[in-house]
Amino acid sequence: MGINSKPVVFAVISAAVILVGTVATVFIPLFIPSTQPVSPYVKPYTAVELEGRDIYIREGCNNCHTQTVRPLRTEVLRYGEYSKPEEFAYDRPFLWGSRRTGPDLNRIGGKYPDSWHYSHMQSPQRLFQKSNMPPYGWMAKNRLDTSNSFKKTSILGYGYTESDVKNQIDSCRSRVTAESYASKESRNQVTPPELQKDLTEMDAIIAYLQKLGRDVKNMEAAK
Ligand code: HEC
Repeated sequence: MGINSKPVVFAVISAAVILVGTVATVFIPLFIPSTQPVSPYVKPYTAVELEGRDIYIREGCNNCHTQTVRPLRTEVLRYGEYSKPEEFAYDRPFLWGSRRTGPDLNRIGGKYPDSWHYSHMQSPQRLFQKSNMPPYGWMAKNRLDTSNSFKKTSILGYGYTESDVKNQIDSCRSRVTAESYASKESRNQVTPPELQKDLTEMDAIIAYLQKLGRDVKNMEAAK
């Protein structure tokens, strides 16, 4: 009698085979360093960028935008270098996304100046008549809540001290509120006067967008 006529033995043997296969292909690689590459170029988010990332999640931008450039000729031509595993070392949770209603954003950092983002977030339709992206101008009317920023960076293990976080917030605030800030005019157009000297949710989400892919662009430039 062959094994096919012994259902219990067959089930036990096939379970064992599948188990060995799973351990070999899933669990063992989890502990091999080469499957978790680390790049000295990829830096954690600053406290303000992290706040922007949280707003991105809160608003569900990832329902329309992916953050994975696939290694396909058409995508690399459109967006730039394809996404590498080490880029996501500080992303918890990942925001790779699956719906591509809007363009991929993994290489958006540095593609446009901040001024472009202020105008686009205020009214995507003013720039692209047929865009179905909702307007987010109201974000510039909300003061950025940084009361939990330090806690967030410590839970994620970014290794910042409380004063690092304070410095990051202060330096971002002085950058965007400076008289010499290159995108001052478009920022002032969307930001109400009482918040123009403060950080808004809009400032944070733009800081986050400008970080996306920037480390990899620097890495490519240094090659
Ligand atoms: C309903 C789907 C939808 C949602 C939600 C959405 N977007 Fe978009 N987004 C689009 C579409 C479509 C485009 C392309 C047309 C345009 O630029 O407006 C786009 C374009 C963009 C661009 C320009 C990309 C480029 O390479 O030119 C950025 C940046 C962007 N979105 C950021 C965001 C952010 C940040 C959020 C969340 C606050 C968001 N989007 C939410 C659909 C969406």
